[in-house]
Amino acid sequence: MAGSDNNTAPCVPVHLGIIMDGNGRWAKKRGLPRSMGHKAGAEALRCITDCCRRWGVRYLTYYAFSTENWKRPKEEIDALMKLFDEYLDEAFTLEKEQTRIIFLGDKAPFPEKLRAKMEKLEKTSEKYDSMTVMLAMNYGGRDDIIHAAKRLAEYAAEGDITPSDIDEKMLSGQLYTKGAPDADLIIRTSGEQRLSNFLLWQAAYAEFYFTDVLWPDFNEKELKKAFEEYAKRNRRFGGV
Ligand code: IPE
Ligand code: IPE
Ligand code: MG
Repeated sequence: MAGSDNNTAPCVPVHLGIIMDGNGRWAKKRGLPRSMGHKAGAEALRCITDCCRRWGVRYLTYYAFSTENWKRPKEEIDALMKLFDEYLDEAFTLEKEQTRIIFLGDKAPFPEKLRAKMEKLEKTSEKYDSMTVMLAMNYGGRDDIIHAAKRLAEYAAEGDITPSDIDEKMLSGQLYTKGAPDADLIIRTSGEQRLSNFLLWQAAYAEFYFTDVLWPDFNEKELKKAFEEYAKRNRRFGGV
């Protein structure tokens, strides 16, 4: 997307994935409990979602809670569940922005009340298509692939498909992200340079952008820097 408007990014990815990392360190630096870092992180999510909407990002996937994050102390997990619960209430206003919300991952381990909210949000925003926000919660790239493989195995067992029918398109169609294009750009904040089990399949040809900025400090200016860097990349997809 070219333009002279300051709010216009030079080139925006169709599908942007964000690994929101560094909330705990942000809080520690300020002598605050980790939960305060997560709260500040939720604010950053709201701000970045707005920026992406203005810039025309069609699919935005946030890594909010991994299948491995259950290893954290109970106190932190409880604080995160409370935050998700509160945040989702506010997120209902996203409907006004014609935003579709999808959760990636198995909802079963979440508290009943939260699960009901997640399901309701998905259902009521189903009709919107100007932007899709995917919240990866209890998400793992391996779990995503296993979940898809199980579904295909079931279809094969029922005789609806034969194993030789299985191709990339069919497997993609069973992933939590079904219907969305592969990730174009993945941003990870806080200086870590790894995927930590995020979008393993969907990131096959994604560009990566790593920044030392901690997630609660990530803002419009930082996002623009990422898009400017992305615009310079030469994506070959195996070609020349
Ligand atoms: C990311 O921030 C948020 C979640 C994983 C829920 P962290 O909580 O991992 O923050 P650091 O990495 O400890 O600073
Ligand atoms: C990745 O961050 C998961 C989320 C951002 C939700 P982590 O902080 O859990 O990742 P590791 O442990 O540093 O790899
Ligand atoms: Mg972390």
